[in-house]
Amino acid sequence: MPTQISTASRTEHAAILGLGVYRPRRSVPNSEIVDAIESSDEWIKTRSGIAARGWADPDETIVAMSVAAAKDAMTAAGITASDVDTVVLATSSLMVLGPSAGAIVATKLGMHNTPAYDVSAGCAGFCYALANAASLVRDGQARHVLVIGVERLTDLLEPTDRTCAFIFADGAGAAIVGPSTTEGIGPVAWGSDGSQSAAIRQDKDFQEYFAEVAKAESTGGTTVRPYIRMDGRAVFRWAVTFLETACRDALDVAGVTVADLDAFVPHQANSRIIDALVKVLALPDSVSVARDIVETGNTSAASIPMAMEELLRTGAARPGDTALLVGFGAGLAYAGQVVRMPPITGIEQPVANAGASAS
Ligand SMILES: CC(C)(COP(=O)(O)OP(=O)(O)OC[C@H]1O[C@@H](n2cnc3c(N)ncnc32)[C@H](O)[C@@H]1OP(=O)(O)O)[C@@H](O)C(=O)NCCC(=O)NCCS
Repeated sequence: MPTQISTASRTEHAAILGLGVYRPRRSVPNSEIVDAIESSDEWIKTRSGIAARGWADPDETIVAMSVAAAKDAMTAAGITASDVDTVVLATSSLMVLGPSAGAIVATKLGMHNTPAYDVSAGCAGFCYALANAASLVRDGQARHVLVIGVERLTDLLEPTDRTCAFIFADGAGAAIVGPSTTEGIGPVAWGSDGSQSAAIRQDKDFQEYFAEVAKAESTGGTTVRPYIRMDGRAVFRWAVTFLETACRDALDVAGVTVADLDAFVPHQANSRIIDALVKVLALPDSVSVARDIVETGNTSAASIPMAMEELLRTGAARPGDTALLVGFGAGLAYAGQVVRMPPITGIEQPVANAGASAS
């Protein structure tokens, strides 16, 4: 008889028990960036929906923004750092390869010996991390998981790049995932396609850059540091042709139809992509659609929790509402799931997060 290996005791359901965000102090209107990219406020608003974006100051680091968002999420969930078992942090703009930002954030929050790691899945990062967290909770591997989506994309932006400079932005969103008496996070529908990785990418890897630097040192030439680049048309085409399937898959695996939805929270990539998805999915007018991009820009892994917070803060959605999330971007990777909207701090919570239990 082989030795029996025990499994952790499983929990049936998981939910988002609390949500928090950090928005950079500095809001940058289109008028401040149009000269560098030979553009106009009207062109940017028409092509992307963006009127302003949050750009972080030097002290608003990946770690600092994550810690601030996490504190609000824990307060909203009614737990403290000592209740958190695991930290999963999604980002694509950390400027060091190690240690993980998750580990530093855990320590800054006063956690000790807590598993913490980073996930890299571009703008789908938050939904990947959320799926990961829900599985850990249901599997009994963790009771409360702190999920963070955070970016400082300005560190990768060339100010004169006409395709990227007006789109990308900074910020953080955090969620506490924990046990629930009813399901609050549906199964994830996800995937990736490395054959289209050129559509959004860092334009050179660090080995290439270091080789350039070494050559410049010996020849006296100049170097250009790595930047984020995007083939806007390719991304747009993929998003409006493929993502309907991703959304429908996420609804199907959760056993939910568009008629059951209260809110739709797509990645805040571009208003025209959001409009196209609303149309092909034939969302009823009663569904609140997140449009945080107008004042926030595209914050990649942070965009979905930030957009959820905006819907809750403005009253367009309420805790307990049924929402479809879908993240998509570099990879090309995507992930979608149906969730119950969580509580946030600072607003009245008319509907308790159905069945959630923080204790
Ligand atoms: C980036 C994007 C807005 C560019 O719009 P587009 O219509 O594809 O723009 P094109 O590159 O085809 O250029 C169209 C025209 O606008 C001009 N243009 C390009 N960038 C411009 C800018 N920033 N300001 C003003 N004009 C610009 C071009 O020169 C071109 O002019 P022409 O017709 O006289 O030759 C669009 O491709 C897009 O939204 N893509 C998806 C991006 C996205 O969602 N990314 C996030 C993924 S996570």
